[in-house]
Amino acid sequence: MKIAVRYYSKGGNTKKLADAIAAALGVEAETVDRPLEEKTDMVFLGSAVYANGVDESVKRFLRKNAGYIGTLYNFSTAAIAPSTYKQVKKIADENAIPLSAREYHCKGSFLLLNKGRPNQGDITRAVAFAKLALQDAE
Ligand SMILES: Cc1cc2nc3c(=O)[nH]c(=O)nc-3n(C[C@H](O)[C@H](O)[C@H](O)COP(=O)(O)O)c2cc1C
Repeated sequence: MKIAVRYYSKGGNTKKLADAIAAALGVEAETVDRPLEEKTDMVFLGSAVYANGVDESVKRFLRKNAGYIGTLYNFSTAAIAPSTYKQVKKIADENAIPLSAREYHCKGSFLLLNKGRPNQGDITRAVAFAKLALQDAE
Protein backbone atom coordinates (compact mmCIF):
# COMPACT_ATOMS: atom_id res chain seq x y z
CA MET A 1 0.00 0.00 0.00
CA LYS A 2 1.56 3.26 -1.17
CA ILE A 3 0.60 6.21 1.05
CA ALA A 4 1.37 9.93 0.86
CA VAL A 5 0.51 12.90 3.04
CA ARG A 6 0.41 16.40 1.52
CA TYR A 7 -0.71 19.65 3.09
CA TYR A 8 -0.86 23.40 2.73
CA SER A 9 -0.55 25.34 5.96
CA LYS A 10 0.06 29.08 6.30
CA GLY A 11 0.24 29.13 10.09
CA GLY A 12 1.14 25.57 11.13
CA ASN A 13 -2.24 24.30 12.34
CA THR A 14 -2.90 21.96 9.44
CA LYS A 15 0.75 20.94 9.43
CA LYS A 16 0.32 19.65 12.99
CA LEU A 17 -2.37 17.24 11.79
CA ALA A 18 -0.36 16.31 8.70
CA ASP A 19 2.75 15.48 10.71
CA ALA A 20 0.81 13.35 13.19
CA ILE A 21 -1.07 11.48 10.44
CA ALA A 22 2.14 10.89 8.50
CA ALA A 23 4.00 9.63 11.57
CA ALA A 24 1.16 7.23 12.35
CA LEU A 25 1.24 5.88 8.80
CA GLY A 26 5.04 5.69 8.60
CA VAL A 27 5.59 8.33 5.92
CA GLU A 28 6.77 11.95 5.78
CA ALA A 29 4.30 14.80 5.43
CA GLU A 30 5.23 17.07 2.53
CA THR A 31 3.72 20.32 1.30
CA VAL A 32 1.53 20.41 -1.80
CA ASP A 33 4.49 21.82 -3.72
CA ARG A 34 5.94 18.32 -3.72
CA PRO A 35 4.38 16.33 -6.59
CA LEU A 36 3.57 12.64 -6.29
CA GLU A 37 6.17 10.54 -8.07
CA GLU A 38 4.11 7.45 -8.75
CA LYS A 39 0.61 6.04 -8.46
CA THR A 40 -0.28 6.33 -4.77
CA ASP A 41 -3.11 4.26 -3.28
CA MET A 42 -4.00 6.64 -0.46
CA VAL A 43 -3.31 10.37 -0.53
CA PHE A 44 -4.14 12.31 2.64
CA LEU A 45 -4.54 15.98 1.77
CA GLY A 46 -4.62 18.68 4.43
CA SER A 47 -5.95 22.17 3.79
CA ALA A 48 -7.42 25.13 5.65
CA VAL A 49 -9.98 27.86 4.98
CA TYR A 50 -8.68 31.32 4.08
CA ALA A 51 -11.24 33.98 3.14
CA ASN A 52 -13.82 31.21 2.66
CA GLY A 53 -11.67 29.21 0.24
CA VAL A 54 -8.81 26.74 0.03
CA ASP A 55 -5.47 28.01 -1.21
CA GLU A 56 -4.86 27.90 -4.94
CA SER A 57 -1.84 25.63 -4.40
CA VAL A 58 -4.16 22.91 -3.03
CA LYS A 59 -6.26 23.06 -6.20
CA ARG A 60 -3.13 23.03 -8.34
CA PHE A 61 -1.83 19.94 -6.52
CA LEU A 62 -5.07 18.11 -7.29
CA ARG A 63 -5.09 19.10 -10.96
CA LYS A 64 -1.44 18.25 -11.52
CA ASN A 65 -1.40 14.97 -9.60
CA ALA A 66 -4.86 13.64 -10.43
CA GLY A 67 -3.58 10.65 -12.39
CA TYR A 68 -1.46 9.44 -9.48
CA ILE A 69 -4.13 9.60 -6.78
CA GLY A 70 -5.78 6.25 -6.01
CA THR A 71 -8.12 7.55 -3.30
CA LEU A 72 -8.02 11.00 -1.75
CA TYR A 73 -8.66 11.57 1.97
CA ASN A 74 -9.43 15.11 3.06
CA PHE A 75 -8.51 16.70 6.37
CA SER A 76 -8.68 20.35 7.33
CA THR A 77 -8.70 23.09 9.94
CA ALA A 78 -10.59 26.39 10.09
CA ALA A 79 -11.43 29.02 12.66
CA ILE A 80 -15.18 28.97 12.11
CA ALA A 81 -15.98 27.51 8.70
CA PRO A 82 -16.88 23.85 8.19
CA SER A 83 -14.34 21.52 6.58
CA THR A 84 -12.85 22.03 3.13
CA TYR A 85 -14.46 18.79 1.95
CA LYS A 86 -17.01 20.39 -0.41
CA GLN A 87 -14.41 22.60 -2.06
CA VAL A 88 -11.97 19.74 -2.44
CA LYS A 89 -14.75 17.48 -3.74
CA LYS A 90 -15.52 19.95 -6.51
CA ILE A 91 -11.93 19.89 -7.77
CA ALA A 92 -11.69 16.13 -7.22
CA ASP A 93 -14.84 15.55 -9.29
CA GLU A 94 -13.61 17.82 -12.08
CA ASN A 95 -10.41 15.79 -12.25
CA ALA A 96 -11.92 12.30 -11.79
CA ILE A 97 -10.19 11.79 -8.44
CA PRO A 98 -11.97 9.37 -6.10
CA LEU A 99 -12.54 11.16 -2.78
CA SER A 100 -13.30 9.10 0.31
CA ALA A 101 -16.38 10.04 2.30
CA ARG A 102 -14.18 9.63 5.36
CA GLU A 103 -12.68 12.98 6.37
CA TYR A 104 -11.33 14.79 9.39
CA HIS A 105 -11.83 18.40 10.41
CA CYS A 106 -11.13 20.35 13.58
CA LYS A 107 -10.90 23.94 14.70
CA GLY A 108 -7.67 25.82 14.16
CA SER A 109 -6.48 28.81 16.16
CA PHE A 110 -6.83 32.21 14.51
CA LEU A 111 -6.17 35.54 16.24
CA LEU A 112 -8.03 35.23 19.57
CA LEU A 113 -10.14 32.28 18.47
CA ASN A 114 -9.56 28.62 19.37
CA LYS A 115 -6.38 29.09 21.36
CA GLY A 116 -4.19 26.00 21.32
CA ARG A 117 -6.15 24.21 18.58
CA PRO A 118 -5.47 21.74 17.15
CA ASN A 119 -4.80 20.36 20.63
CA GLN A 120 -3.74 16.89 21.69
CA GLY A 121 -7.32 15.61 21.46
CA ASP A 122 -7.67 16.93 17.91
CA ILE A 123 -4.42 15.26 16.94
CA THR A 124 -5.41 11.96 18.52
CA ARG A 125 -8.69 12.02 16.57
CA ALA A 126 -6.86 12.88 13.34
CA VAL A 127 -4.60 9.86 13.81
CA ALA A 128 -7.62 7.65 14.53
CA PHE A 129 -9.23 8.87 11.28
CA ALA A 130 -6.12 7.97 9.29
CA LYS A 131 -5.78 4.55 10.90
CA LEU A 132 -9.43 3.74 10.25
CA ALA A 133 -9.06 4.80 6.62
CA LEU A 134 -6.03 2.52 6.27
CA GLN A 135 -7.84 -0.36 7.96
CA ASP A 136 -10.73 0.04 5.50
CA ALA A 137 -8.42 0.18 2.50
CA GLU A 138 -6.45 -2.95 3.40
C1 LIG B 1 -5.61 35.02 5.77
C2 LIG B 1 -6.52 34.14 6.58
C3 LIG B 1 -7.88 34.06 6.25
C4 LIG B 1 -8.75 33.23 7.00
N1 LIG B 1 -10.06 33.15 6.64
C5 LIG B 1 -10.88 32.30 7.34
C6 LIG B 1 -12.25 32.15 6.96
O1 LIG B 1 -12.74 32.74 6.00
N2 LIG B 1 -13.03 31.29 7.69
C7 LIG B 1 -12.54 30.60 8.77
O2 LIG B 1 -13.28 29.83 9.38
N3 LIG B 1 -11.23 30.71 9.13
C8 LIG B 1 -10.40 31.55 8.45
N4 LIG B 1 -9.08 31.66 8.80
C9 LIG B 1 -8.57 30.85 9.92
C10 LIG B 1 -7.90 29.59 9.44
O3 LIG B 1 -8.79 28.77 8.70
C11 LIG B 1 -7.38 28.76 10.64
O4 LIG B 1 -6.53 29.58 11.42
C12 LIG B 1 -6.67 27.53 10.14
O5 LIG B 1 -6.45 26.64 11.20
C13 LIG B 1 -5.34 27.91 9.50
O6 LIG B 1 -4.60 26.78 9.21
P1 LIG B 1 -3.02 26.84 9.02
O7 LIG B 1 -2.42 27.29 10.35
O8 LIG B 1 -2.67 25.45 8.67
O9 LIG B 1 -2.75 27.82 7.94
C14 LIG B 1 -8.22 32.47 8.10
C15 LIG B 1 -6.86 32.57 8.42
C16 LIG B 1 -6.01 33.37 7.68
C17 LIG B 1 -4.56 33.44 8.06
